[in-house]
Amino acid sequence: MEEPPRPELFDFHGVSMTKFFTDNWENVKKFKAKPDDVVIASYPKSGTTWACYLLDRLYFGKTHPEKETSLPLYMRVPFLELCIPGHPKGKDLADQLTVTPRLIKTHLPVHFVPDTFWENNCKTIYVARNPKDVIVSHFHFSRMNSIHPAPGEWDGFLQRFMDGNSEIKVYNFKHKCSFVNQPFVSSVAYGAWHEHVVGWWEKKQTNPNLHYIFYEDLTENLGGEIDKLCSFLGLTPSDEEKQSIKDAVRFDNMKDNKLTNFTNAPLMNLKISPFMRKGKVGDWKNHFTVAQSKQCDEHYKQKITSPGLQFRTEV
Ligand code: A3P
Repeated sequence: MEEPPRPELFDFHGVSMTKFFTDNWENVKKFKAKPDDVVIASYPKSGTTWACYLLDRLYFGKTHPEKETSLPLYMRVPFLELCIPGHPKGKDLADQLTVTPRLIKTHLPVHFVPDTFWENNCKTIYVARNPKDVIVSHFHFSRMNSIHPAPGEWDGFLQRFMDGNSEIKVYNFKHKCSFVNQPFVSSVAYGAWHEHVVGWWEKKQTNPNLHYIFYEDLTENLGGEIDKLCSFLGLTPSDEEKQSIKDAVRFDNMKDNKLTNFTNAPLMNLKISPFMRKGKVGDWKNHFTVAQSKQCDEHYKQKITSPGLQFRTEV
């Protein structure tokens, strides 16, 4: 199968992006949120799909069971800014949702989120994951998903990931924005990881409607995290319902479930790497050299200085 052409990264208001996340920007910006919308936000590869399915089951597992057997999760929880060929625009899918609440996924940095979500005090869940596992997951995802730039070799991908936006900014400064003629072959959209997680963490300090969760905590204590989510969202599922949700969102079950494993999703080649790949904390150990691990730890130690924000690379 011939691979579709990969998109170029460019500087979008100071953040590296590709056209697939910005082509519908004027409409995304004007999205009309409703007060009961629930937003699921994250940097890519942080466990977004896991959180989306958890929320989908919590809200609709009992009342809309027919949806469980018909619509893939990516249609039930639209990806707001997504604009790719052969698939409805995320913003249009969100507009067309008839359920309450509407669950809406985004990877936007916090300062890009359309104003109406904040004006309506929408409940928002941000999912964060340690950078080493995000980088590994992103590397394999970029190999199989042609909406991202091709990752190239691991070593280069890792360096560019850690450089994040700075590489693009320096490049623009030097070359007066003529970079589109010389695209980056492999880096990532949505800007630098640390700016994303820190931006959302800082927002949480002043916004009680923002609940910040960690992939590692979900892995270690799913039941406890579900309880915290329910308390944040004002939900009171029975013990039986909670157990059924816990079973449904287990990695193996989501991997086997055609509605959550991205079977038939546009532009993904699951033969290269499955979407539900490892689902673990610590797979980075199979990719990083000792020197790379040390360099990465030191890099993010300098970048992440917000009080209380800590990432675990092991559980
Ligand atoms: P790996 O590539 O490390 O396996 P996102 O949804 O943000 O794109 O994140 C995808 C990552 O979350 C992938 O990580 C995927 O396997 C993992 N994931 C998805 N569902 C999961 C689950 N139920 N339990 C654990 N990890 C899960």
